[in-house]
Amino acid sequence: MKFLFFLALLHFGSSLPTSAPKVPAEPWNFFEKVPVEQVIDPDYNIPAIQDAPEIPMEERDSPTHAYSVDIAFHTTVSDMDCLRDHGYKSVFVRALNPSGNTYFDKEALNTINNAYDAGLGSEIYITPNISSARSGGDQVSLVYQNLHDNGINVRSIWIQVTSPSNWEAPMPVRIEFIHDMIQRAQDLGLAVGIYTSFYDWLEITGGFNNFSSQVFLWYWHVLGMGADAETIPTLEDFRPFGPWKQATIKQFGQVEKLCGMIVNRNVYGILNQQKSKIIHIPSGNALVEKEMIRVGGIGL
Ligand SMILES: *[C@@H]1O[C@H](CO)[C@@H](O)[C@H](O)[C@H]1NC(C)=O
Ligand SMILES: *[C@@H]1O[C@H](CO)[C@@H](O)[C@H](O)[C@H]1NC(C)=O
Repeated sequence: MKFLFFLALLHFGSSLPTSAPKVPAEPWNFFEKVPVEQVIDPDYNIPAIQDAPEIPMEERDSPTHAYSVDIAFHTTVSDMDCLRDHGYKSVFVRALNPSGNTYFDKEALNTINNAYDAGLGSEIYITPNISSARSGGDQVSLVYQNLHDNGINVRSIWIQVTSPSNWEAPMPVRIEFIHDMIQRAQDLGLAVGIYTSFYDWLEITGGFNNFSSQVFLWYWHVLGMGADAETIPTLEDFRPFGPWKQATIKQFGQVEKLCGMIVNRNVYGILNQQKSKIIHIPSGNALVEKEMIRVGGIGL
């Protein structure tokens, strides 16, 4: 089953153009997870990529669930306006690039600000690198510090655990690395979630299920790339694995064209999605009110 699934993705993956002019060489995750890694330049017009289906009108202001896309590239405010006009409520922004020793992706700040201006919420996720000289914890701190220093009120962080071939370390070391990231995030006062799938989690951690605290789940389930390979846009197909008895977010579509970008599509239940927070900062003898963009909060 796993094998067939992989072959299906491999087939799709190998038929994608990879030599577009502006495409950075980024082999990370290529076969299994092209969409999240943005091997493809979002503005490059690839006819083979299918348009994302429209969100039905009656679902756009659903009191129970909302739609989101992942972003790991440069965006503009009009990109975000376009997402909002198509019924999306938030973006998942990649804040850590695994290249080299990992680095904070400054485009994340730009996208978070653009999303806020367009009235969308944002969440951040990181693509960690177990081969980096930075520890897992330090990869989390790097992201937190950069967001915090730029005035973002970070509440939660999602950690990508996909593409088993990129986890070049013995299984106990991988588990320790993941644990270290979770621990650091919690020490920083953040809620933590993992972005993975049943098979990724099994391959990478052996199905590890012994976290000492609550860790949220964002799982992906697609049959391949593009709109035709989407699964149902609900969490009904979730089945428990690892430590998770329930999921918070599902990625049901990958590599689809939307508003001139190439994105993955997600759905989640709405509980709490405040887009900003008023904080009081000391200034002389007074406290000044300042509104800070808030990142994270789905599922909290
Ligand atoms: C992860 O880090 C190692 C060591 O710095 C580097 O060689 C490798 O290219 C990085 N991986 C990715 C996917 O960028
Ligand atoms: C689960 O984790 C706790 C503390 O982190 C540890 O004491 C316990 O031995 C672990 N259980 C298993 C089955 O590994």
